[in-house]
Amino acid sequence: MDLTHAPTASQTLRVGVIAGSTRPTRRSPAIARWVADDTSQPTLQLHTIDLLDHDLSLLSEPTAAAFGEYEQASTRAWSKTVASYDAFVLVAAEYNASFPAALKNALDHLYAEWHHKPVGLVGYGMAGGLLAVEALRPVVAELRMHPAPTTLALSPHRVDDGRYVPADGEADARSTMLGEIATLGAATRTADEEAPA
Ligand SMILES: Cc1cc2nc3c(=O)[nH]c(=O)nc-3n(C[C@H](O)[C@H](O)[C@H](O)COP(=O)(O)O)c2cc1C
Repeated sequence: MDLTHAPTASQTLRVGVIAGSTRPTRRSPAIARWVADDTSQPTLQLHTIDLLDHDLSLLSEPTAAAFGEYEQASTRAWSKTVASYDAFVLVAAEYNASFPAALKNALDHLYAEWHHKPVGLVGYGMAGGLLAVEALRPVVAELRMHPAPTTLALSPHRVDDGRYVPADGEADARSTMLGEIATLGAATRTADEEAPA
């Protein structure tokens, strides 16, 4: 895949920036808002998604998501939401050397809805959340997503009064990652259009 190929203006992508933690004092909404505030990519429409707005219980569907047969209204609503996006950014805290269970639960609820979509990985934690990012890699691979090469490693201590205050270079890294998502999205869309029916 040619990562230097720039998408055309007609190839607008809807990107869901998922705030991946749910505890009361969580930092993920502030970091997701900061990611979604990027204005460097004219072909991306960035929207935040808060898992707390999606009433998902711990996975209790009787059938594996790969079959796409959802019994619960909350799963069907989540399916509709995820299917409406072309790409995602996962904003993941590091919890005990991995990413939050709430995010895994949200990912596990669906299957085909994630397929072939670019994904940016944003970790944060006491040492940048790199273990959360690395733990996400095999999961997004299993879900047949296309990870952007650039990942972000952020500090929760830079959240001040509900806003993420970036360190030097972090806004540039954000733009690079989102540019890669735009390019991956355009390439994926072209491949889909050229695939035999
Ligand atoms: C259950 C739990 C486990 C954590 N484990 C780690 C860890 O393994 N490595 C790390 O760097 N930070 C760890 N932290 C610190 C978090 O990354 C940090 O508090 C972050 O803000 C949590 O995200 P949240 O505020 O959105 O919940 C942990 C925090 C919690 C609540």
